[in-house]
Amino acid sequence: MNRIQGKYTFSMIKPDAVQANYIGAILSMIEKAGFSIDAITMLQLTPIVAEHFYAVHSDRPFYKALCAFIASAPVVAMVLQKKNAVADLRRLMGATNPTEAADGTIRKIFATSIDYNAIHGSDSDEAAALESSFFFPGRDLLLKKTSTI
Ligand code: CMP
Repeated sequence: MNRIQGKYTFSMIKPDAVQANYIGAILSMIEKAGFSIDAITMLQLTPIVAEHFYAVHSDRPFYKALCAFIASAPVVAMVLQKKNAVADLRRLMGATNPTEAADGTIRKIFATSIDYNAIHGSDSDEAAALESSFFFPGRDLLLKKTSTI
């Protein structure tokens, strides 16, 4: 494992949670769990960008609805820093389906269904790097530079 792996993940507060005014509460849970917000932006994805972002799910039956939903209103995209960032954020988020999410997790508290599940988090270091560079172009160059300090 190099010095970057395991330290960063990508996360996105989804349109349902943004529309419900849960941005502050979710960011507070993330920070209280020990993550530093390394980069953050609020934007609305175009349908084409949404299709690229979720391309890994293009064969799944829910792909079209997922892309339409994620492009339906603004999202908050961010890069989070912490040891074991990918695994720790997924634990904090809870199961994809909020009915299966553990008590105290973000999805248990804020999600209303598997489709409207409040937050996305990368599922691997590789996905974290790819998804971070998708929203924050040039970011891997910045990480390489800062990691040598
Ligand atoms: P996310 O972590 O953003 O990754 C893909 C999204 O697809 C997932 O959260 C869910 O919101 C959505 N989704 C809808 N149906 C399913 C399903 N059956 N399995 C996994 N993800 C699903």
